[in-house]
Amino acid sequence: MSRSDESAAHSLLAGLAARPGVHALQRRFAEDAARVERFSWEAPGVHADASKQPWDAEIFDGLVRYARAQGMEQGIAALFAGERVNTTEERAALHVALRAPAQATFAADGEPVMGPIVQQRARVRDFVSEVHTGRRRGHTGAPFTAVVHLGIGGSELGPHLVCAALRGQHRSGLDVRFVSNLGAGALDEALEGLRPEQTLFIVASKTFTTAETLQLAGTARQWLAQGVGSEGSAAHFAAVTAAPEKAAAFGIAPDACFELWDWVGGRYSLWSTVGALPSSLALGSSAVEALRRGAAAMDEHFRTRPLERNLPVVLALLRLWQGRYLGQRVQVVVPYDHRLRLLPAHLQQVDMESLGKRVRRDGSEAAGPTGPALLGQPGTTAQHAFFQALHQGTDVLPVEFIAVAEGPAAYRAHHEVLLANCLAQSMALMCGKSAAAAEAELLAAGVAPDRAARLAAHRSFPGERPSTTLALRSLEAESLGALLALYEHRVYAESLLYGINAFDQYGVELGKQLASSLVGAVRGEAPPPEADPSTRGLLRWLTQARSTEPR
Ligand code: F6P
Repeated sequence: MSRSDESAAHSLLAGLAARPGVHALQRRFAEDAARVERFSWEAPGVHADASKQPWDAEIFDGLVRYARAQGMEQGIAALFAGERVNTTEERAALHVALRAPAQATFAADGEPVMGPIVQQRARVRDFVSEVHTGRRRGHTGAPFTAVVHLGIGGSELGPHLVCAALRGQHRSGLDVRFVSNLGAGALDEALEGLRPEQTLFIVASKTFTTAETLQLAGTARQWLAQGVGSEGSAAHFAAVTAAPEKAAAFGIAPDACFELWDWVGGRYSLWSTVGALPSSLALGSSAVEALRRGAAAMDEHFRTRPLERNLPVVLALLRLWQGRYLGQRVQVVVPYDHRLRLLPAHLQQVDMESLGKRVRRDGSEAAGPTGPALLGQPGTTAQHAFFQALHQGTDVLPVEFIAVAEGPAAYRAHHEVLLANCLAQSMALMCGKSAAAAEAELLAAGVAPDRAARLAAHRSFPGERPSTTLALRSLEAESLGALLALYEHRVYAESLLYGINAFDQYGVELGKQLASSLVGAVRGEAPPPEADPSTRGLLRWLTQARSTEPR
């Protein structure tokens, strides 16, 4: 890998992006009968069709050349070798070990990790079995019927998504709920209908310092005290953390405290005890094992496939092409399956916390835009919200559709309509409708010719708008695991292309610091000296409004 290879590959791509007709998708199909096969890939559990994207064989080869120049192959090997790929925090990022089979041999900095991982897996399994069988009960001796998981960011998004996606297929009988937000009502909503005597709380925080989670845990303890007394509440808490001493100081018993390690990034903690504990309580341990198997199959694909047939790499190359060369800076993700409704929120963290960086690993400015901003909602809800702009707006926003071939049997007819919509949207985006066709349709419907001529521009669709479709045969634990691992590896591959560190998130720190220095001012104390004039003005307005509004 050398700077000159990188700049040669970059110049080639910039030249290809500047060619006239680069966005002409339909023409590309007309010119290449094998286009669908050429731009479709198979990976464990996932079929991908990116033929409706503005690229061709020459562009693709240029992108692969760029990836090689950026050390993609070495970067992938370094991840799996447990090297310190998290360069700023000087540690490995070994989430792949968390889903590996027990006999695998991963090491972080030369230190074997599978022993501790297998030990924590066994501890979670035993704890879950105790709760499910009623051997572990609340303070009064009543069995647990509900679990409330308190955590935020990676300590909530992934586990919540998995539980929501798989609860129709795997149910343990326990009612598992998630709370991440401090806002009024979030905890109330989660506690609605629950009895303190039969409720177990999980405090999930890698650092055990996250203000929101700790405040929720404190309020949960007060709620418990009403039913089981303040002495009894300890029996109703479990914790998942890399700081067990802090959990112990909160009063969580060592046998209910599960560990993770500093080499597990927050947004990958789904694969650690943070995900395993609530998911196993909600779905059973075998569902979690299947989830891991699916992810491990995708890991193997990512580790071993040549770049040209490596799906996470190919999707990362596409993102580089879209963002850096075509100026498409916002990506849309739309799963056509209600079970995946929490996927966009999870991906926002995985993508934007990892790639929202403007300096490279060596501290120099990034050469161009790094990962896109991401928005999404499940289809067809999304169609009735923001699809108007995708079809007729002035910006081109590439869409990633997710289709699941086989839906839940009880809702077969609903699922068929969803699939038809998914296909229709990607087709409409690409094929569009000319003004002439729109006018002819209006005339055929009996609209007066002058009105038809006036409306034609409004009712036409430019088309040539790009999308990718990821298709799963069915949605079960294994394919979900593979899909989630695919997204994680795409992000890592992208970080290698941009030369940035995907595993830190210093960008969230400043706001947290300022929030803690402003709490006093919100409560009526003098503003901190660093507060700017606008913030002081807002504080004055809010303080006055709070003192005059009825409480
Ligand atoms: O928002 C930053 C972040 O550190 C995320 O990376 C993480 O997922 C979240 O906060 C929660 O952190 P913790 O698990 O330490 O409470």
